[in-house]
Amino acid sequence: MTEEINYSYDGGLYAEMVQDRTFLSARSDTENWIPVAMGNARGSVTRDMSTGPSAALPASMKITVEQADKANAFGLRNGGWWGVLVKPETTYTGSVWAKADKEGAGAAVKVSLIANDTGKVLASSTLPALTADWKQYNFTMKTGASGEASSANQILVTVDHPGNVWLQVLSVFPPTYKNRANGNRIDLMEKLAAMHPAFLRFPGGNYLEGNTIPDRFDWKRTIGPLVDRPGHASPWRYHSSDGMGLLEFLEWCEDLKMQPVLAVYAGYSLQQQFVKPGPDLDPYVQDALDEIEYVIGDASTKWGAERVKDGHPAPFALNFVEIGNEDQFDRSKSYDGRYAQFYDAIKKKYPALTLIATTPIKGHVMDMIDDHYYKRAEQFFEDAHHYDKIDRNGPKIFVGEWATREGTPTPNMGAALGDAAWMTGMERNSDLILIASYAPLFVNVNPGGMQWQSDLIGYDANSSYGSPSYYAQVMFSNHVGTETVASDLEGAGDRLFYSVTRDRAKGIVYLKIVNASSKAQDLKISLDGAKDVKPTAKLIRMSAATTAATNSITDPKRVVPVESVAKGVSKEFTRTVPGYSIDVLELGVQ
Ligand code: AHR
Repeated sequence: MTEEINYSYDGGLYAEMVQDRTFLSARSDTENWIPVAMGNARGSVTRDMSTGPSAALPASMKITVEQADKANAFGLRNGGWWGVLVKPETTYTGSVWAKADKEGAGAAVKVSLIANDTGKVLASSTLPALTADWKQYNFTMKTGASGEASSANQILVTVDHPGNVWLQVLSVFPPTYKNRANGNRIDLMEKLAAMHPAFLRFPGGNYLEGNTIPDRFDWKRTIGPLVDRPGHASPWRYHSSDGMGLLEFLEWCEDLKMQPVLAVYAGYSLQQQFVKPGPDLDPYVQDALDEIEYVIGDASTKWGAERVKDGHPAPFALNFVEIGNEDQFDRSKSYDGRYAQFYDAIKKKYPALTLIATTPIKGHVMDMIDDHYYKRAEQFFEDAHHYDKIDRNGPKIFVGEWATREGTPTPNMGAALGDAAWMTGMERNSDLILIASYAPLFVNVNPGGMQWQSDLIGYDANSSYGSPSYYAQVMFSNHVGTETVASDLEGAGDRLFYSVTRDRAKGIVYLKIVNASSKAQDLKISLDGAKDVKPTAKLIRMSAATTAATNSITDPKRVVPVESVAKGVSKEFTRTVPGYSIDVLELGVQ
């Protein structure tokens, strides 16, 4: 499950290197853009509210240069997202909208990557002569072979002659995953790919709703060229560039072969603003229908054609649509009516879609309901059998947000044990729980980067790491059976959890054992539902001496799964599992 929180996209997955590329904070006293005068250069910068390149971005950064020449340039520097990672022999791709006060006056606008400590120019590009009209300039900057990867760098934009220059949407990208333009960070995408996720729930979470109705995820303002995206305030207390817009979410799904689970805004925002069911809600329902059409419509439809124009001719596959997020918090109790209006309109046009309610509904059919759990490990241990007794005649379950919240900024081994215990319960009940997604995925670990503690994957500008909870996800999601297997386990003391599933086509039984107690436990396991169990199995184990053991940006692999061979397995066998351990056994069967 993903949303813009903890600098998940801006300053995270979305690979843009410039912080505040639309110059929202373009005052001389702000963090992101600092004026730089070299030698005897003189000038000033202001946010010019009277000119911009588009209706979405009607303002711009005005650089007024009073005195400058080739050796004494004036401009601005940007520190990126807690640093600017520059690597040797790498091509950086940039673009900027710009204009000058007279034709040709901006001939020497230069963008450079500069090492903070030495002042060395690592790469640069000089724009062609600017015109007096707004125009987009694309450029590349290539670094040399020497030097090492470092984030102690800045992005510098300079002008070397007197006059006025206006800038907007100054963007610089490193190479991205699958070389997508406007794409994603490679290391983070690789970490996600290793989880083999089946789907992605987006765009929230609270981020879908926004604090107020105008601050919702208004998808139509997140598509098309970047210059047509105004960005918006995220409820997580920072501005979202919306570079990660609806199409980018979908392409992210495509790149990792995930299904989108699309949440549509359903007329409720976090500060208790809601739209009354009935005619007032109609435009929002229409927006959701348009959004679905953008995702799955062909070129003959209005919004399908818009997606084609945006560069993605093929429709995406879509099976699940969620109506809102956590609507139990709407104190007006308007969700029953809002849900019914959305449900009926979407079902009428797209009967094959599974529609998800965010809280129980009175008087209307529910295909599926989204349950959320944020708990301590001990609570998950106690609740691991939660779904064993739930009525099978009700709606199917989507556990759309869940996590053991222990450890900051990322969860520790204790949290991984809580997660794994909970996952055994979800696997056992997978006739009822069709899909489940951990949340939140990401955190930028720099000071001020985190708004929500305990996030699966941590990073800074240089590198990223998976928490023990991340590895628990990798272990479980890479070993998913297609059915549960009759089994029995003797000898289990406190805090011992297990599940047995089988993939018949592959001839594999997956036995997962979670020992969340500090002591080793001797177990007798009977795989009643399996035949001809081969005597050796692949064992993947993650364990630690304490529940506080964890990974971090400086020690990224302290707690990781280790692979070995387990001997002496059969239909009935005994095993000793160490304290604080998660085991996945891959058993060969007929
Ligand atoms: O995952 C963090 C937040 O928790 C989500 O935005 C919200 O849906 C839930 O309350």
